[in-house]
Amino acid sequence: MQPRPASERREELVALYREARSCTRCPLWQGRTQVVFGNGNADADLMFVGEAPGFHEDQQGIPFVGRAGQLLDELLGGIGLTRADVFVANVLKSRPPGNRDPEPDEIEACKPYLYKQVELIEPKVVCTLGNFATKLLTRSSRGIRSVHGRPQIHELGGRRVRIYPICHPAAALRTPAVKAELQEDFARLPELLAQPSLDEPAPVPAVAVPP
Ligand code: URA
Repeated sequence: MQPRPASERREELVALYREARSCTRCPLWQGRTQVVFGNGNADADLMFVGEAPGFHEDQQGIPFVGRAGQLLDELLGGIGLTRADVFVANVLKSRPPGNRDPEPDEIEACKPYLYKQVELIEPKVVCTLGNFATKLLTRSSRGIRSVHGRPQIHELGGRRVRIYPICHPAAALRTPAVKAELQEDFARLPELLAQPSLDEPAPVPAVAVPP
């Protein structure tokens, strides 16, 4: 596939955001204050995908601004990154009432936005936070407990991408053992990001030149 300039991809991402802002594909639009499309670096190597906006996210239109978001910021700081370096989005772009779990038909209606985001941002690594994002993007019913911390390669948005499932920060806030596990998994992210992009041609081996 021909590489597309970052500026062109960014413009399309903005157009996608405008479309999402007035989305009525599922009934959640009726209860939302605003769409939480996602934010950060539109050309990031690392993308995070959470579950759905909560109360504060719905109020501010920005993902992960509550306590789980503070933990995400802290973990990012631990590997020398800030929110401006990465792109953060959710499976659902609108808040489910009372922060209940996303319903299958809501995920189905919303997933084209997420797939298009991955296609336009072209991340090297997509870090899925918790069960909903992991099951959707790995197209598997295997839960986060059995797959966290192990990268998988999948085709997403027309490219091969490393998916790295880790626990949701909200679960880590509830259980100290999960927080320790999340910190360990997070610490492996720099190594994963340092790997060559899966689209890059393999380096040409050095050939000995005869004298
Ligand atoms: N939890 C999520 O999954 N997403 C958010 O944006 C906030 C909390």
